[in-house]
Amino acid sequence: MSTPKVLIIGAGGQLGQELAPALARQFGQEQLVLSDLKPLGSVYAEELLDVTDKAALAAVVQKHRITHIYHLAALLSATGEKNPGLAWQINMQGLLNVLDVCVEAKIERLFWPSSIAVFGPTTPRHNTPQRTIIEPATIYGITKQAGEHLCDWYFRKHGLDVRSLRYPGLISWKAEPGGGTTDYAVHIFFEALRHNAYTCFLGAGSALPMMYMPDAVRATLELMAAPAEKLSIRTSYNLSALSFTPAELAATLQKLLPDFRMDYAPDFRQAIADSWPASIDDSEARKDWGWQPEWSLDAMVQDMLTNIRQKLQVA
Ligand SMILES: NC(=O)c1ccc[n+]([C@@H]2O[C@H](COP(=O)([O-])OP(=O)(O)OC[C@H]3O[C@@H](n4cnc5c(N)ncnc54)[C@H](O)[C@@H]3O)[C@@H](O)[C@H]2O)c1
Repeated sequence: MSTPKVLIIGAGGQLGQELAPALARQFGQEQLVLSDLKPLGSVYAEELLDVTDKAALAAVVQKHRITHIYHLAALLSATGEKNPGLAWQINMQGLLNVLDVCVEAKIERLFWPSSIAVFGPTTPRHNTPQRTIIEPATIYGITKQAGEHLCDWYFRKHGLDVRSLRYPGLISWKAEPGGGTTDYAVHIFFEALRHNAYTCFLGAGSALPMMYMPDAVRATLELMAAPAEKLSIRTSYNLSALSFTPAELAATLQKLLPDFRMDYAPDFRQAIADSWPASIDDSEARKDWGWQPEWSLDAMVQDMLTNIRQKLQVA
């Protein structure tokens, strides 16, 4: 197989900004094309692209002789609840366009992320299994559930090598989070360093599955590199690393910033958080392609603070 030529769709977001350099390290900078609604000003080849425009997507794929696609463009959980029509259009029509173009252009491998948001209030909350009751309560979750089954259908009907992960809340410092229910776990660090205080939009006891970005990027690369015959799941793999509450995150932060104070003012995102699992069973990912998380809560907090201090240029 020749070196992959990779297109990232929605490359300007929280995940894309970290996945792009990792893919460039793996395949070479010249093998990467980034696309988004907005110009990114990156060091890589770039295309302005609205994924809901199938003809434009097909043209970009043809122009760059793309072989692998990472389709990250989506409206996330909190933004989706405020704009359900647009969430449906981007998340569903966008994915359908990508799947069809993949088949038509004989794309070798597609990555598309799902989310813990596929699960709903009737799902077992603790150690949520891979196969369980899935009745999502948000538009975002509904699009992820339908998307998972679309991916599986394209795999079975068309032999498309599509691979997917149900990411937990992703924690990172390079890019602003994009309007999800777990964004508090990023905002807290910036506000702690700027103001020594943060008002959390979830209640103190809301445990949610989370993951530090380096683990999420590595999981993505490992899944995409796994031999196809090892993969038993073509909907989307459960993926787990950490599970903590806002109070536990605040207490971990206070070990390093003793003056930090957190208070709580839950808003509409509390109901979304309440409908999601607290922890995830990812034994299928561990068994099929050897997944192992590396980052603990303490190590993640330390690393976030170090990097955000540098970014904000504060002591
Ligand atoms: N960040 C998380 O915590 C998290 C958790 C679970 C799953 N995910 C999934 O990972 C993927 C990436 O998430 P993210 O956090 O990077 O999102 P984000 O909101 O930070 O970035 C999404 C990017 O897609 C772009 N985009 C939006 N509409 C577009 C369109 N019509 N055409 C092309 N580009 C468009 C946006 O401009 C943005 O740069 C999404 O599928 C999301 O559902 C993220």
